[in-house]
Amino acid sequence: MTGSELDLARPSRRIQALPPYLFAEANRQIAEKRAAGYDVISLGVGDPDLPTPPHIIEALSEAARDPRTHRYPEYYGMPELRRAIADWYEQRFGLALNPDTEVLPLVGSKEGIFHLPLAFVDPGDVVLVPDPAYPVYFAGTVMANGEPYLLPLREDNGFLPDLDRIPEAVAQRARVLWINYPNNPTGAVAPLEFFERAVHFARRHEILVCHDNAYSEVSYDDYRPPSFLEIPGARDVGLEFHSLSKTYNMTGWRVGMVVGNARALATFGQVKTNVDSGVFEAVQRAAIAALGGDQSWLAGRNLVYQGRRDRVIAALAEMGNPTPAPKASLYVWARVPGGGSSLQYCLELLHNSLVWVTPGIGFGDAGEGYFRISLTTPDDRLDEALRRMVAAARQR
Ligand SMILES: Cc1ncc(COP(=O)(O)O)c(C=O)c1O
Repeated sequence: MTGSELDLARPSRRIQALPPYLFAEANRQIAEKRAAGYDVISLGVGDPDLPTPPHIIEALSEAARDPRTHRYPEYYGMPELRRAIADWYEQRFGLALNPDTEVLPLVGSKEGIFHLPLAFVDPGDVVLVPDPAYPVYFAGTVMANGEPYLLPLREDNGFLPDLDRIPEAVAQRARVLWINYPNNPTGAVAPLEFFERAVHFARRHEILVCHDNAYSEVSYDDYRPPSFLEIPGARDVGLEFHSLSKTYNMTGWRVGMVVGNARALATFGQVKTNVDSGVFEAVQRAAIAALGGDQSWLAGRNLVYQGRRDRVIAALAEMGNPTPAPKASLYVWARVPGGGSSLQYCLELLHNSLVWVTPGIGFGDAGEGYFRISLTTPDDRLDEALRRMVAAARQR
């Protein structure tokens, strides 16, 4: 047998069950155009274009010069980082967390979200996953041999899942419920009553609620997103995932956290000690500087995003596509004009206007009929993209 005949690269059934990674496919198509010399503007990925603030970079540089940071970090993060996370939660949400039992640093929240089902889900167990959603809730479930049960997020229900529609037999098999507000991709926010319903549902069915709060610090007008853990009883049933990525313009640094139910965190910690060896200690010290340092610059940063949001909303209105302005998150979620296929619409826009926006179908079947515009493109490029989109709409 020759190398090419051997079946050694056959993907596992788990891998085969995964949909193609949304951003990888989008990136490939954009790269192709750019290689052909076209000036493509991508409004696709939610990756802050603004730099990490200097005081955080300074903390990293100083820490990186200290050889004590060069060794394996502690599995559960530096005690000083866990304390800084607890203090931040206290200041921001008025919640007192025990830094030793209720806080666990992550190598970016994606890492934690992906690995969580390995700790709680046996083959055949159900994980309740919103649709449309950040794709990692689904992927992590499939990779743990769990069964995703999709909860459609409908516009007429404020893009909240209707927990009452989950069949009893499914709820009985469910171990985890994922929720995410401010929401990617819809930009929706959740009223506290929804979180209350989730706590009640989780108690009744003994389900772990995992709230992904990655966008809590990116909000507009006077809206301040809450923590799920503010709800009485939430800590009995829930965890909250958080990240420094979007909060402090630190997507490349790979540091986040999960907080909440101490017993669930202890179980999850068992997976983590086997998977990774923690966050580079210099990055942990920088994270302490971020969480404990000046927070006043965040308001100015959010005003930059808010200005972009307003220009996107104005351009969509000009295109004959009036769209509600999101109160938080980095995304505007708009309907495909005429209600056709989102992929076809986005590819047409790419080919005709050299602008890439993300087709809603990439976030799940219930995302069909929508597309997502990210607000993380520099102002001049965003304005150019919007000009092109408006011009294309006039020609339709
Ligand atoms: C909803 C949501 N959760 C989590 C993440 C992951 O963030 P990170 O791994 O950078 O902390 C993202 C990134 O886009 C996201 O949109």
